[in-house]
Amino acid sequence: MLDDGIKPSSIVRYLDQYVIGQDDAKKILSVAVYAHYRKIAKARAEQTELAKSNVLLIGPSGTGKTLLCETLSRVLKVPFVTADATSLAQTRYVSDEIEAILQRLLDKGGGDVERAQRGIVFIDEIDKLKARPGEPRAVSGESVQHALLKIMEGAPVKVGNAQFVDTTNILFICGGAFVGIEDIMAQTHGYGFIATSDDDDNQKILDRLNSRVKPTDLFEFGLIPEFTGRLPVIARFQELSRDMLVRIMTEPRNCIYNQFREIFRNEGVELTVERRVFQQISDLAIEYKTGARSLRGLFEELITPILYAVPDDPGVKKVEIDSLFTEPRYVRA
Ligand SMILES: Nc1ncnc2c1ncn2[C@@H]1O[C@H](COP(=O)(O)OP(=O)(O)OP(=O)(O)O)[C@@H](O)[C@H]1O
Ligand SMILES: [Mg+2]
Repeated sequence: MLDDGIKPSSIVRYLDQYVIGQDDAKKILSVAVYAHYRKIAKARAEQTELAKSNVLLIGPSGTGKTLLCETLSRVLKVPFVTADATSLAQTRYVSDEIEAILQRLLDKGGGDVERAQRGIVFIDEIDKLKARPGEPRAVSGESVQHALLKIMEGAPVKVGNAQFVDTTNILFICGGAFVGIEDIMAQTHGYGFIATSDDDDNQKILDRLNSRVKPTDLFEFGLIPEFTGRLPVIARFQELSRDMLVRIMTEPRNCIYNQFREIFRNEGVELTVERRVFQQISDLAIEYKTGARSLRGLFEELITPILYAVPDDPGVKKVEIDSLFTEPRYVRA
């Protein structure tokens, strides 16, 4: 199931080609999936039960949670689907919705039940399922948590008319922004008083311990204890810095810059965009507070007028953009 030679470190190296930063999350997730698929193989060989470690990803919107899971499923060559917890919470027929998710997983696996049963299901916006005091249980996020924890644990789910998908070996990854979790974490005691020296390494270890989200924090946030208990592995995603946003636009193989250079190349034109432009776009994106999500829109806004003009002028061989605030330079042969 895991290709020979696949190790947590090789998974991380693959992820690095597509996902910028988030090094901690990459490591945690790679180790988790590696262990997961090793356990499946071992459990199958020895006919033993599998103790599953589903994963919780916590981090702001647009920082790469979905992208990381998608990329992960590609390197593992397993079927992958995403679902949205909010839509689960809005339906009266949660079990139908869950069935539909597994149906999609089955479709992704080419109708092969065996393959689907080794897939990954990513459930986003899990933080929207928090229990609100006074809400009738049947319609609350809490009842969805109960429904989910049953399938996360492992259960046969009827899909279509005659087929069953067993969720025992399916890896569930839940994601959410968990706005306000920092405040909850700050209220509970941190490890601080042990630090007597101003030793740098010491401080790093303490920072690490203190930045860990504890099950009790999630409980306080509004997830039920049984649910948090099914998510023993927690990885946090960091807010993207300006430098990371620049790298997102310019480094990955399929990054925005490369995509548009290719479009211009097909017109016989060489496009060069100065680093400063990407920094200016990143500054705007940071103001929009949507992580990397607004980068494409901003870049397209800049490029569209040029793409409009270039085909009318076959003499243009080169377009150079130095700044968001100056006109692009058209170079003719
Ligand atoms: N760390 C990253 N590296 C490369 N690209 C990124 C990164 N983070 C975000 N992106 C870009 O932004 C888009 C949105 O990211 P993604 O869907 O992964 O966000 P998310 O964390 O799942 O957000 P949400 O919580 O809103 O679902 C991606 O398709 C990708 O183009
Ligand atoms: Mg997402």
